Amino acid sequence: MARLPIFIAPAPCLKVTAVAVDQVDVEIKQLMEDMLETMHDANGIGLAAPQVNKKVRVLVMDIAPKGEDPTPICMANPEIVWQSDVIGTNEEGCLSLPELFADVKRPEAVRIKYLDQNNDEQELDAEGLLSTCVQHEIDHLDGKLFVDHISGLKRRMIMRKLQKTRRDEGPTV
Ligand code: NI
Repeated sequence: MARLPIFIAPAPCLKVTAVAVDQVDVEIKQLMEDMLETMHDANGIGLAAPQVNKKVRVLVMDIAPKGEDPTPICMANPEIVWQSDVIGTNEEGCLSLPELFADVKRPEAVRIKYLDQNNDEQELDAEGLLSTCVQHEIDHLDGKLFVDHISGLKRRMIMRKLQKTRRDEGPTV
């Protein structure tokens, strides 16, 4: 296992559309394990491959509260095959936008089809925090950050603040 550097906005790798994997082979399985370690180490509940500068449609999640048994979920080529008409608003953060939080509207429940770490096809019905998390991570695979869901003015304020923070701190990664 290896910890990977997490890229921070506005890094260009966060803007790309990731490509589907042919299958979950040894290399992709290793990436999933490394991403889980990286995510746990950063106290995150989700991480998508573009955040570690890998342009593949891979994400990992674990929404278990700290101190409880881990419940890792690894997905390759995730697809939303159903979403609820009911929209919910939840506060989101992101490892690539440190210390920024904002309310985002998304469908409350989704069903996801994906390949797991053993290359087996799976479906997951997600609601609550898991639903928010998986939609947020799938967005990353399409080069989208949660702030892209927010109206222009507020988003520009957030991104300006972030760029200023990065300048003050110097380059990361
Ligand atoms: Ni994120």
